[in-house]
Amino acid sequence: MIIRKLVVGLATVAFSLAAFAQEPIVIKFSHVVAADTPKGKASVFFAEKAAELTKGKVKVEVYANSTLYKDKEEMEALQLGAVQMLAPSLAKFGPLGLKEFEVFDLPYIFDDYKELHAITTGPVGKAMLKKLETRGLVGLAFWDNGFKVMSANKPINVPEDYKGLKMRIQSSEVLDAQMRALGAIPQKMAFSEVYQALQTGVVDGTENPPSNLYTQKMHEVQKYVTMSNHGYLGYAVISNKKFWEGLPADVRTALESAMAQATNYANKIAQEENDNAMAEVRKSGKSQITTPTAEQKKAMKKALVTVHEKMASRIGKENIDAVYKATGFDPSKL
Ligand code: LMR
Repeated sequence: MIIRKLVVGLATVAFSLAAFAQEPIVIKFSHVVAADTPKGKASVFFAEKAAELTKGKVKVEVYANSTLYKDKEEMEALQLGAVQMLAPSLAKFGPLGLKEFEVFDLPYIFDDYKELHAITTGPVGKAMLKKLETRGLVGLAFWDNGFKVMSANKPINVPEDYKGLKMRIQSSEVLDAQMRALGAIPQKMAFSEVYQALQTGVVDGTENPPSNLYTQKMHEVQKYVTMSNHGYLGYAVISNKKFWEGLPADVRTALESAMAQATNYANKIAQEENDNAMAEVRKSGKSQITTPTAEQKKAMKKALVTVHEKMASRIGKENIDAVYKATGFDPSKL
């Protein structure tokens, strides 16, 4: 009788251990934008690839739209280990003391994705991702979003139009300087709060790639959108270094492969997602879309390129020069 009980007991323990061994490793991937955006889609793509390539050993749970954490909280949650992956915009690393990430925010520094990729896929980008390790993080990839439009309740085509406008920005000092260079009053604010702030008039306007503007319905509370393309917004996909390095080697390799595929996917869809979003904004008829004339663009560039020099001591002149060199940007030719 005793022996039978013992055998049954041991079998139960063995069964639970086996079940335990098969429990997948859960990766909580938190982000602040809608599911129907380049980042939203790429994170789901990554989750699917991760399950496939690890043969179910990893389960990536994606939490979109700030449902788990807002901007600042998600960074803290990652460092504390409450979530395992994020893809914050490159404009959100300054508060961690990683000021060189703000080079991506400099107005007009990239003309197109090709120039941007010269940085994100080259030595400058690699060095930036490496720097994350000093904050207990690991940089896994850069994901594209796109070039920003400006919006407000009045036409905003030239610097004078911005005078006195309260403009929501991300937590970047370069973006702060950018809005000040236009005579606007920058207001840092979590992404999840922007729609309401625009709706209630807490701020007058904002900037974002069309995919974010449209999926957050910002165009419904902004009368004018200008195709300024004055700056870039994209992401660094990051994890907690301790967590990442503690993964079994085969799992980590599979996840790296899933990430490489997700990165290709993200960068492939980004432009199209933004074009489609802009078409939807246009179709909605809720805001008037303006495209700056060559002369208006020149005036904007003239006002905004001053930010490069102003921010050189913060970002590091060598970092700005490295971007100039890789992209051929020449401020004197504007
Ligand atoms: C913003 O705060 O405007 C963006 O960083 C949101 C995002 O993640 O694209």
